[in-house]
Amino acid sequence: MDLGLKGKTALVTGSARGIGASIAASLAKEGVNIIITDINDNNAGNITAEIQKYGVKCWFYTMNVADSNSVSECIKKIQEAGIGIDILVNNAGVTRDNLLIRLKEEDWDMVLNVNLKGAFNCTKAVAPIMMKSRWGRIINITSIVGVMGNKGQANYSASKAGMIGLTKSCAHELASRNITVNAIAPGFIVSDMTNALSEEVQKDFMSKIPLGRFGGVEEIANTVTFLASDKAAYMTGQVLGVNGGMYM
Ligand SMILES: NC(=O)c1ccc[n+]([C@@H]2O[C@H](COP(=O)([O-])OP(=O)(O)OC[C@H]3O[C@@H](n4cnc5c(N)ncnc54)[C@H](O)[C@@H]3O)[C@@H](O)[C@H]2O)c1
Repeated sequence: MDLGLKGKTALVTGSARGIGASIAASLAKEGVNIIITDINDNNAGNITAEIQKYGVKCWFYTMNVADSNSVSECIKKIQEAGIGIDILVNNAGVTRDNLLIRLKEEDWDMVLNVNLKGAFNCTKAVAPIMMKSRWGRIINITSIVGVMGNKGQANYSASKAGMIGLTKSCAHELASRNITVNAIAPGFIVSDMTNALSEEVQKDFMSKIPLGRFGGVEEIANTVTFLASDKAAYMTGQVLGVNGGMYM
C-alpha cells in the first residue's frame, strides 16, 4: 500500500534509541528521509547506519529539546544544509518518579521542561517551515498516564496531559495551512524507560492489560507512520491510545 510518504523528511526527537529509533525505522521503510536528534550522540553512528539501510537519507543532530537555543540552533543548521522538514515527531521524554510529597521541585521542572516545553520548543521552531510548504504532520508522543494519572508520576502525568492540550491548540491553529497535529498515548511499551521499573510495578501493570501483554516499540512506530501518511489526512487534534486496552 502506498502511504504517500516517499521523499518526505521527518525529524524525530529523542530518536537515538527506544520508541524514537523504531519510529525513525518505520518511516524510513516508507521512503521517508530521517533527521535523528537526541541529547547525546552515543549511538549516532549505529542508528544512522541502520536507517540508511532502508535506502533513505539520514542525518544526526545533537539537540536538547528542553533548551530553546539548542532547538533553534539545530533547526537553523538543518535549514542551512538545505534539508526540509515535513513531519515532526515530538518523542523525547523522561521520567523522575516519586510520590507527590517527596517529589523535588527540580524533578518537577526537569520533567515538565523536557516533555512539555520540549514539544513546544520544537513545534514552534518547525511549524513555520511547514506553514511555508502548506503541508505538515506533527505527532506528539504523550502517554496513557497523561489521560489516567498514576501514583508516583504527578510530574510525568502533568507533562503528558499538557502535551494533549498543546496538540489540540496547535491542531486548531495550523489546520488552515494543511498541517495536522495528533497525539499518541502509549500504554506499557517495552523499552529502557520501562525496563527500569521494578518487577512488582511491571506485574501490577500487566494485570491491568486486557490483551495480556506489554506493547512493542514497533506498535507505536506503526501508529506514527499511519498518522504521518495520506491515509490519516482527515484526522487532527486526536489522541490515539495504543495500550492493549489498559484504558478505554
Ligand atoms: N516506554 C513506555 O512504556 C512509554 C509509555 C508511554 C509513553 N512513552 C513515551 O515515549 C517516548 C519515548 O520513550 P522510550 O520508552 O523510548 O524512552 P527512552 O528513555 O528509551 O528514550 C528516550 C530518548 O529521549 C532522549 N532524551 C532525553 N532527554 C532529552 C532531551 N532533553 N532532548 C532530547 N532528547 C532527549 C534520550 O536520550 C533517549 O534517547 C517518551 O516521550 C515517553 O514518555 C513511553
